[in-house]
Amino acid sequence: MMIKTDIDDTWGQASPLHDPLCLANFKPRPSDILITTAPKAGTTWMQQILHQLHRPGHSHFNSIDEVVPWLERPRTNSSTEQRLAYYETLTDPRIFKTHCTYPQTPGSNIVRLILSSRDPRDCCVSFYHHIMNMTDEARAQVNITAPSSFDEYFDRWMKFGSWFRNIASWWPHKNDSNVLWLRYEDMKRDLPDSLNCILNFLEWQRTPQEIETILHYSSFEWMKAHSDKFSNQLNHQKPSFKPNGFIRKGKVGDYKTLLKSEHEAAIFDKAAAILPADCLVFFGLKK
Ligand code: A3P
Repeated sequence: MMIKTDIDDTWGQASPLHDPLCLANFKPRPSDILITTAPKAGTTWMQQILHQLHRPGHSHFNSIDEVVPWLERPRTNSSTEQRLAYYETLTDPRIFKTHCTYPQTPGSNIVRLILSSRDPRDCCVSFYHHIMNMTDEARAQVNITAPSSFDEYFDRWMKFGSWFRNIASWWPHKNDSNVLWLRYEDMKRDLPDSLNCILNFLEWQRTPQEIETILHYSSFEWMKAHSDKFSNQLNHQKPSFKPNGFIRKGKVGDYKTLLKSEHEAAIFDKAAAILPADCLVFFGLKK
């Protein structure tokens, strides 16, 4: 497969977790479903939910990445061309995960997009544990170092700003007809309702018995008990996280264990500088 290498900056900078060439050359189909999130907003949960909605009860995968691949992630064992050729072989509906901003998302006007958002304070604290619970080998693979303190981590998270950048890019598309915007907090409160929203959006139907199965396999308990299937998205052969380090707590408001009022104030200030007023209200970030 020949790919174009002279691509626009819009596709982003290459990194161990981001392959702009893959994004620029990917051939989207109207039947594609893309799960899009800012990191730690319930991406893996949504991957499992979508896989279960598609194939209720199917759990014979070694890694969730085999059945809901991370679209833009470079692979050590295959080239961009091989990856794209592999994506072409997948049958419809293809379901992918991505952390891309709106402009970096291929086919954003034709594919169906399911977005999960989460309180930035919880995303921030969840990502701290994500880094601290990674194995040394996995950290080296994605070129990140463990911070020496929470404050050092917090400064890094704020400077990197992926939560703010991601939400700012998607907010204007919240009501697009091919976008379904769900909240982690709502999914925690009433998962059957969120499943209904997804089924209506995709125009799929599932029997009450299938819904029972989907709820069972998407539960925190089931995913925690089978966390090896979810914590090996970087390397299918072994988990990239210490035991219990990835499917971790799954709580709303866990930020209270680590964030001090000055951290919260910094998040509120940055959000107010970047996001429109209705978006701040949506996230409860209005002082
Ligand atoms: P915590 O670190 O707060 O526990 P992502 O997949 O985007 O990296 O998000 C990871 C977060 O989703 C983690 O949050 C993880 O525990 C939580 N999570 C994973 N599976 C879940 C489930 N079935 N129910 C609720 N939360 C889940």
